[in-house]
Amino acid sequence: MKALAVFPSSREVRLIDQPEPVIAGPTEVKLRILDAGICGTDREITSFQYGTPPVNSPHLVIGHEALGEVIDVGSGVTGLARGDLAVLTVRRPCPHDLCGPCRKGRQDFCITGDFTERGIKGAHGYMTEFVVDDERYIVKVPKELREVAVLIEPLTVGEKAAEQARVLKQRLPGHLKDDPSQLNAVVLGAGPIGMLGAMKLVDAKFNTYLYYRGKADSPNVKIVSAIGARFISSAEHPPADLAKMIGNISLVYEATGVAKISFDLLSVLGVNGIFIFTGVPGVREPIEIDAELIMRNLVLNNQVICGTVNAGRASFEEGVQDLVSFMLRFPAAVRALITARMPLDGARDAVLAKGGIKSIITVA
Ligand code: BGC
Ligand code: ZN
Repeated sequence: MKALAVFPSSREVRLIDQPEPVIAGPTEVKLRILDAGICGTDREITSFQYGTPPVNSPHLVIGHEALGEVIDVGSGVTGLARGDLAVLTVRRPCPHDLCGPCRKGRQDFCITGDFTERGIKGAHGYMTEFVVDDERYIVKVPKELREVAVLIEPLTVGEKAAEQARVLKQRLPGHLKDDPSQLNAVVLGAGPIGMLGAMKLVDAKFNTYLYYRGKADSPNVKIVSAIGARFISSAEHPPADLAKMIGNISLVYEATGVAKISFDLLSVLGVNGIFIFTGVPGVREPIEIDAELIMRNLVLNNQVICGTVNAGRASFEEGVQDLVSFMLRFPAAVRALITARMPLDGARDAVLAKGGIKSIITVA
């Protein structure tokens, strides 16, 4: 079968031939990959800044956002059957007994760092024709999501952020949890993760603002405005303006991976606010921020900063539910996130290309 692989030592990215995986245990499932998404992480891996091949392999098959169709199941599989549509989680547990999170199925909180991530770190990914994995890592998707279910993995970034925000909100005394002052949310960045996060916030009835450096007539802004989020240009309005324009900023969902604008926005976070970081900046020169101001605000305004990486199975399940709900409320906006579809033969060019919102490799 064909697969798109990166060879870090020889700095090559190319289509290769791989043996088809086979079911080796009773709880394993074989999927035919239908769609595989391309994201910033794939671009970093194919420019050799990130990514690790499996032990003893010179190459890594990339791809960690995938929709597949179940074509075979082991004798002990209970939750999936031939013909089902399904998405795959990304992270697999580390082997250490002492790692509580991994032993309890929450490898997104792994404490040893020896987890693997399919298509990213130590395990082959999904930009290929067939994949086998244990059923516990595979989540069934209703047939009506066929066209857009490949968006579930990037949506899980927002789902895990929402899980964290729910917990963090519990620190507020009873009647304050649902105070109207806690309903202004800002999404920083308008890539797929930011836009899907905005959909989740709108759907959860937040007053949702998209803070983005692009122009009002950009496709991203049009999509997010169409679902009821309000666009404020970061090119025209510095963070201090933003706070004046919208009032108490109770939640920020950061989805840019750019430290400067993120910390500038953090410095105008509102009273009792929560700031969630999801972007991973590259290693660059240190930048200047007003740390005194930020620290003062953190203390005097009871603020919380939270980082989140990867997502557990529950976030995928919640992502499936939410995508069903988004498709009922704003189907055109969801569909508009997918701006290009390419066959596996063109995957190399597609991964190396820039532009659009979300590019998808249509494998089958
Ligand atoms: C993936 C996550 C992963 C992270 C870091 C992201 O692109 O969506 O699952 O944990 O990269 O490798
Ligand atoms: Zn990704």
